[in-house]
Amino acid sequence: MLKIDVEGCSSFVNKAAFDAYVEKALAAFDVLQGGQGAGNDFLGWKELPGQVSESLLRQLEAVQADWKARGIDLVVVIGIGGSYLGARCAIEALSHTFAKQLSGKKAAPEVVFAGNNLSEEYLAELMDLVAERNTAVVVISKSGTTTEPAVAFRIVKEHIEKTYADAAQRIVAITDARRGALKTLADQEGYRTFVVPDNVGGRFSVLTPVGLLPILLAGFDIRAMLEGARQMQQALAVRDAANPAVQYAAMRNLLYTELGKKVEVLVSYNPKFQYLGEWWKQLYGESEGKDGKGIFPASVNFTTDLHSMGQFIQDGDRIVFETVVNVKESSRSVVIGSDPQNLDQLNYLAGQHVEHCNAMAALGTKIAHIDGGVPQIGISVERIDAATLGEIFYFFEFACGVSAYLLGVNPFNQPGVEAYKKNMFALLEKPGYEERTAELRARI
Ligand code: PA5
Repeated sequence: MLKIDVEGCSSFVNKAAFDAYVEKALAAFDVLQGGQGAGNDFLGWKELPGQVSESLLRQLEAVQADWKARGIDLVVVIGIGGSYLGARCAIEALSHTFAKQLSGKKAAPEVVFAGNNLSEEYLAELMDLVAERNTAVVVISKSGTTTEPAVAFRIVKEHIEKTYADAAQRIVAITDARRGALKTLADQEGYRTFVVPDNVGGRFSVLTPVGLLPILLAGFDIRAMLEGARQMQQALAVRDAANPAVQYAAMRNLLYTELGKKVEVLVSYNPKFQYLGEWWKQLYGESEGKDGKGIFPASVNFTTDLHSMGQFIQDGDRIVFETVVNVKESSRSVVIGSDPQNLDQLNYLAGQHVEHCNAMAALGTKIAHIDGGVPQIGISVERIDAATLGEIFYFFEFACGVSAYLLGVNPFNQPGVEAYKKNMFALLEKPGYEERTAELRARI
């Protein structure tokens, strides 16, 4: 089970200060659990692990079986923000790093992502791939009106309709139960649809069909993931100072508010967790960065980034603290051999597992960073598998709710995202934005 260790902050904060923040975090915990806080109509994610029904799982598995029968070997998942990051995080973490390059028949279709940018080159290159493969699409937009996925979907859909007689069977839409352009289109075209519940916001939606369908299609065990999340839900429901979500929320708010640590860097020592960093940044950045407040969330992969960002973290402006996600067991074994010539002078490592070197790098870095003025929170999980990802997703979501309430912001809205959209629509001359178009023209 996921554990937290705040010992790496002890030389920066005294016990009394931490205890005071734990009390504040427990009060925020009560607000979250009591459903009394701002944005409390978006708390559906809290109950998801135990609420995803067998019938929904069967419907998701029916899509998987149907697409297998049609020989689909490429699934394009179209979505942005919370409508793709959870699935991408899980798929990157659970996949063989070199799955694409390995020979041999693939057990599951390849899953690629689109609709998360507006790069013409990206879309053109996606269409090069789509043209070569037997393709299906999962288009995800809770609002059903987001521009990036809508543009990508229009282009991919045109290809699917031109190429396949069974086009409508190759498209699944995941959207609002009633509203939005995607819902209208899906109903009209007869696509299979799944619902993003009204009370679950995008960045909290990985355990709805938004995350579950792409993760299942990529060949991973969503039942185990839900079970991991359910166990974490049970553990976090306990109102206790030792509750890991309470500890995390308390420590990060203490470091931010009392010590001016304005940047939190999520660190991992396994490249499979690169997209965990992306998912976590969206969750915390969009949930907490508002009303002139918020810890800036950043992420790095060590030891890779010790050779780039390591310098700043060790020695730059002392505004940083780290949250390190440690994985206890490696699922694979590689032992360093002995070399009679020892020209590389590595014989002192002969017989050691590479993961031992990784663990010593992590320990050495922890001590160096603490000595350099960087407090460190540790989060540890047993291994990287579907169940631990379920634990990690639920832990960070729940802790985010507690932490944002402690900070005094509504974790479940994102008013700041609208500003760029308004300008983009005006500059693209979308009907209805004429006044803003004129204002912007006068400025550029
Ligand atoms: O967390 C959020 O609510 C956002 O990041 C959304 O997921 C993102 O903007 C995509 O929205 P939609 O699913 O409505 O297209």
